[in-house]
Formats: sequence, C-alpha cells, structure tokens
Amino acid sequence: MVSETGAAIDKMAESLGRRAVRRAPLGQRTTYRVGGNVALMVEATDEATLSECHLALRAAGSTVPVLVVGKGSNMLVSDSGFCGLAIWLGGEFAAVEITDTTVIAGGAVGMQALARQTAAGGLTGFEWAVGIPGSIGGAVRMNAGGHGSQMSDVLRRARVFDLESGESVWIELAELATGYRRSAIKDTDVVVQAELDLARCEPAAALEMVGEVVRWRLSHQPGGLNGGSVFKNPPDDSAGRLIDATGLKGLRIGTAEISRKHANFFQSDRNGSADDVKSLIEKVRSLVHEAQGVELEPELRMIGFGHPKAAAGQASTSTSTSTSSTESGSRPSDSRYREDP
Ligand code: EPU
Repeated sequence: MVSETGAAIDKMAESLGRRAVRRAPLGQRTTYRVGGNVALMVEATDEATLSECHLALRAAGSTVPVLVVGKGSNMLVSDSGFCGLAIWLGGEFAAVEITDTTVIAGGAVGMQALARQTAAGGLTGFEWAVGIPGSIGGAVRMNAGGHGSQMSDVLRRARVFDLESGESVWIELAELATGYRRSAIKDTDVVVQAELDLARCEPAAALEMVGEVVRWRLSHQPGGLNGGSVFKNPPDDSAGRLIDATGLKGLRIGTAEISRKHANFFQSDRNGSADDVKSLIEKVRSLVHEAQGVELEPELRMIGFGHPKAAAGQASTSTSTSTSSTESGSRPSDSRYREDP
C-alpha cells in the first residue's frame, strides 16, 4: 500500500518533471558520508525553480517534509533515508557581490571560500568563518559560529524564500530571532541570500587571521568523516569537556567512534552506518547525564530518523535500518569535515 506521503511525492515528481530526481543519494552529500537516499531531490538554480517547488508542494498537500541542503556539514541522514523533498541550491544562489564593505552572498556560497575571499579583498569581520565548512544559508539558519564570533555579529539581513507562500522577502537581523545556534528560520524557508556588514582592513592582517583559525582547527579538531560538534555547549560549559571528563574518548558503537582528539566530534568509518552514529549519540547523552547531571542537546541535525516507512531507498553503503525524527539541512562537500590547509 502506498503511504499518504509516498502518494504526495509521486504527485510532486510528476508536476516537477525533469527537475526532480527520485531516490537521489542524500547521506553521501553529507560530510559524514553515511545514510540513505532522499525520495525526491531538486537542484534549484534560481527563484523560478523554488516557485515550482512551492506549487508542487501546494498541489501535493502538506504531507511532504522539506529539507534544504547546503553543504551537508552539520547533518546526519538515517540509513533508511529521508522520505521528503530535498532542495539543493546552486546556480545564481552561488553568487557573491561585494560593494565597499557590504557583501551579498547567495545561500549556496561556502563559508570557507567567502572567508578567504573577503579577507583577500581587505575586509575584516568574517575570518572566523574559514572554520565553518557549511553554506551561507545553513549558517544563517543555525547562526553558526566559532572563535568568539557568530553569523549574527555580521549579518544585516537575509533574503528568505518561503516555500509555503511562494514569496521571498528580505528579513532584518532583529526579526530573525537569532540565538546560540538557532534562528526563526523554518524547514520550509530557503535562505537565498545574506547581506553582511564587514569593515575595511589590510588584506595581509585578515589573511593572517584566516591562517590562525585554520592552524587552530588542525591542531584541535579531527579530520575524517564527521559533522563537526555533535552537541551544543551547555551554558558556561563545553560538551567536549563534559564527554571527555566522563571518560568517553574512543568509545565505539559499530562503525562510529568518539574522536580521541576532540570528544564532541564523532567519527564514522568509511562505508559506516548513520544508525551507529545515532546510537553513539544516545549512549553519550545518557552516560554524560548519569555522570555529570547535564542533559546535552544535539547540534547535529538528525534527518529521516523516526520514520519507519521512510522508503526513500537504502544507501548503497549501509545495511542497517533507522529510528528517530525528521529535520532539514545543507550541500555536498569535501570528503572531510575539516577543510584541508
Ligand atoms: N575540551 C576537553 N576535551 C575535549 C575537547 C575539548 O576538555 O575532548 C575542552 C577544551 O580544552 C576547552 C573546552 O573544552 O577548554 C572547549 O573546547 P574547544 O575550545 O575545542 O571549543 P568547543 O566549545 O568544543 C566550539 C564550537 C566549534 C568551534 C570551536 C572554536 C560549539 C558546540 N562548538 O567548540 O564549532 O569550531 O568552538 O571556536 O559551539 C561546530 O559548531 O560544529 C564547531 C566545530
């Protein structure tokens, strides 16, 4: 029997025609390189394509979950995949315009590339972003940060396409309700552009700072297959410190292991299983709670878990099945979470 969502996806595939790819690899587009397929994938190169997605979603009813894919650096896709529509941004959403100290970057632009470009162009304020392997769109949505800075320090406004209404509007920073790794942006909102407010400086000084961030990350964070910080830092503490203090570095479940370099990074083996990573996350949450009395909250976005009928197709590399909740995320990427120096 075809589920309600499955029927709605069939309808959407029909109305999107050649724009949509069925059973497209999704886990392989993440920096973890584990997890299954998505039922339907559209590469949106302009707002007209997003309008088509809006119309297809509306025609199909409200049962199809949506995932905006950036660089896949902060998400874990279940082994059974994601039974919904994934939108991958490219084309005009990868453009950057710089006028004096104002930078307008498309949602698909990479944070690391933009950090290098702005520094080389004599702009300061965005050097820290060389440490974030995600896209501008994903970084706005989760108010990504590092090295004492975050998106909301430089973001003036974001242009958001609402897949529910089919309209796009500029939203000022104050209305985005940004906080520590969060904002008011919903799963059905696509961040198509962000306007940043930087300052002038000597290119050499900004590039030196970019180099410092890259060196710091190489010495403090692991490479390999991972999705960056698994948990958010609790107020006035650090998830990495708490996991380390619980003695969990090196703990392994199946193909997933806690990094011995940084305890808040969980590594996957090549051809590993997303469900092993998920089991490790649950185990660590419970052990840290028992030992430290702190309830850690995942920063990693969990996609397609909790949908036993997520018949999006199995990943070619994994064998197990999934458990837990649906969410959205980001675009393909380097084979490692960390950018090579
Ligand atoms: N620590 C340990 N053991 C560990 C790891 C860390 O004791 O295994 C201690 C460190 O010694 C330090 C403290 O925990 O005293 C904090 O560690 P670190 O300086 O590595 O920073 P973090 O809080 O773990 C945050 C961001 C990172 C970002 C770095 C650098 C979060 C959840 N993580 O890490 O962001 O790169 O600061 O600014 O906010 C990401 O969001 O994916 C990410 C990697």
